[in-house]
Amino acid sequence: MTEHRVLDLSLAARAFVPALGDYPAPLQAPAVHTWRGRMLNEYGSAQVFDALAADLDDAGFDAHLGGQCRHFAEEERHHGALCAAVVLALGEEPRGIVPVRAEYPAHGDAPPRAGALRNVIHVCCLSETVAVSLIGAERLQMPVGPLRDLLTRIYADEIGHARFGWKVLERIAPTFSAEERAAIERYLPVAFAHLEHHELALLPDAGVQAPAGGEKLGLCGGAGTRSLYFETVDSVIRPGLQRWFEC
Ligand SMILES: [Fe+2]
Ligand SMILES: [Fe+2]
Repeated sequence: MTEHRVLDLSLAARAFVPALGDYPAPLQAPAVHTWRGRMLNEYGSAQVFDALAADLDDAGFDAHLGGQCRHFAEEERHHGALCAAVVLALGEEPRGIVPVRAEYPAHGDAPPRAGALRNVIHVCCLSETVAVSLIGAERLQMPVGPLRDLLTRIYADEIGHARFGWKVLERIAPTFSAEERAAIERYLPVAFAHLEHHELALLPDAGVQAPAGGEKLGLCGGAGTRSLYFETVDSVIRPGLQRWFEC
């Protein structure tokens, strides 16, 4: 059974609390739910990048790749604090339950380089690329102000995380053996299924409309966000991977 613990980012968040200005009272509860969820998710991403760093080191890749992932883990921890700061600004405690260890796949069936690259693809080319798309759209709808500045900080880092994956792939994919390529292709359907399950669980249901004025607090409707997710997978991620793999 997965072990859990309480995560409390009150202290880490205190220095970053944004001024939210006026907003309709009924938006407070959904906004707390959204930003607390993001806080927990960002915290999980930090653990994933630490694990990815170790994976790349163990597979014998150049040490600077692992070093970059450790830096990304720091950025994700900071994103967790920024999202927690929004929860504080909304008048609630930035606390929640997290798994002691984030879910992270081991790939005993694949050669070590292919196993590590499976995770680079899953984390950076899939999850982080989706994050860039969804956060970018949310940011465009948000009025200029302190919350948009906070989101812009997160957005800029997520672009770096996604780009890292695509760049690593561009450099390493041409050096793969047939066995390594086949090991990655075997995994891609699993990665896409996991991505869809994980991302859609975080998004509002398709029938949920964006609340009036919700864009000010980063609240969006279900249908538009879900179709943006599918568009990102179909017109950015899959064609990007098809440069090297059948998928
Ligand atoms: Fe993040
Ligand atoms: Fe990220």
